[in-house]
Amino acid sequence: MWFEWISRPIVKEGVTYAIVHDITEKKKAEEELILQKEKAEKYLDLAGNIIVALNRKGEITLLNKKGYEILGYKEGTLIGKNWFDVCLPKKMVKQVKTVFASLMTGKGKFVEDYENPVLTSGGKERLISWHNTLLEGVPEKVRGVLSSGEDITEIRKLNEELEQRVKKRTAQLQKSYEELKTLDELKSNFLIITSHELKTPITPLMIQAQMLARGDLGPLTEKQKQGAQIIHKNMERLTRLINDILDVSKISSKVLKLQLKKKNINDRISEVISEKKPQADEKGVKINFVRGDLPEIKVDDFRFQQVMVNLLDNAVKFTPAGGKISVKAVGKEDHVLVSVADTGRGIKKANMEKLFNPFFQAKPSYIEKYRGGTGLGLAIVRGIVRQHGGKIWVKSIFGKGATFYFTLPINPPKGAENLNNTDTTETKEKKDKVQVKGKIPIKKGVK
Ligand SMILES: Nc1ncnc2c1ncn2[C@@H]1O[C@H](COP(=O)(O)OP(=O)(O)OP(=O)(O)O)[C@@H](O)[C@H]1O
Ligand SMILES: [Mg+2]
Repeated sequence: MWFEWISRPIVKEGVTYAIVHDITEKKKAEEELILQKEKAEKYLDLAGNIIVALNRKGEITLLNKKGYEILGYKEGTLIGKNWFDVCLPKKMVKQVKTVFASLMTGKGKFVEDYENPVLTSGGKERLISWHNTLLEGVPEKVRGVLSSGEDITEIRKLNEELEQRVKKRTAQLQKSYEELKTLDELKSNFLIITSHELKTPITPLMIQAQMLARGDLGPLTEKQKQGAQIIHKNMERLTRLINDILDVSKISSKVLKLQLKKKNINDRISEVISEKKPQADEKGVKINFVRGDLPEIKVDDFRFQQVMVNLLDNAVKFTPAGGKISVKAVGKEDHVLVSVADTGRGIKKANMEKLFNPFFQAKPSYIEKYRGGTGLGLAIVRGIVRQHGGKIWVKSIFGKGATFYFTLPINPPKGAENLNNTDTTETKEKKDKVQVKGKIPIKKGVK
């Protein structure tokens, strides 16, 4: 129990009067208050941020342990000191004081979050991210400000270093990319030009070999005839290879242009199938075609034929005797969908996407024999279909056949077409050659 005594001796009467108050409750409340204050101070000291309170004059009324630690002063020594004079870099004191003064009179615009440096006792600057609250909150009665600040000096430094490193790496990558692009362009240009130049002497050679084999240049012995036929066959292979390399190069350097004409592709598909039939018959593979109710579409006739020849060529090549190939054309709202399905060896899931990359050929299994080719067919097919604005994909169960699908829109996108439609394929190729970037010297007239 706590009591408060107020006593007064009255000399005249020779007595002392005393008033006694029971102040136990008041005392308890005081002790509780002190406890709460100590607790609050401990919490503030535990905080990982600076916590500082300033009065209207900018004097420090509270600063926690972390604050002293960051600023480099002994605990308790800054109370009553002017925050701006002691703890801010000299260059900004005047300006910040002005802003603070207008805030305290309720005029300035209060900013809750900002970044500012502080000055340590050792004269070093540390960057602090501040979060502020006005004490009291009512502008007329602003009594000061309470701020919590996080030392972001190291993080900022790290961020800047990181940014620098990212910038440097990006520049290096960009440089490598440019170099690779130039090399790739050079490679494509080289291939386009070389294959063009190779085609020139091969054409007369082919004709001569054919004439020789047919006996047009005079009678040959059986052996000589066979020799001439072998030369002619290999010339054909070489021409095909050169044409394929030329097409793939054009596709990869985006110079392939189409000559579009409105067409119903049913007839075109039938023609290609008829051309492929002898080869399929010889192998014992049947080809079936379901003609669709098709709209006319704008298509490059020569390139469309190339797509069908390649897909059928593959289907025949990878389907064993007794197998079946089904070709279907279906008319859709704004495009046609063509599919070529076979009952051949099928494709492993892992190879499905790779098939369309130039030079990719799935390894034949040990019972299969190598089937020739260079792995360029599907890359060319995809390039042509895409240039028309269509899509191509494949579905297959390994060992049970494959189905290749492609779409062609009724109206290909702008830019797909070679606007000079009177060009023949040959002159078109020459035009493409002119568009080739880079400076590889062209040696003319190898005959
Ligand atoms: N219908 C199919 N069934 C199974 N595998 C196929 C089929 N079509 C293509 N492939 C696989 O995809 C590969 C790539 O086909 P692509 O037509 O590009 O080249 P290729 O036929 O090997 O040679 P090229 O077409 O240049 O003469 C083939 O080697 C084969 O492994
Ligand atoms: Mg092929």
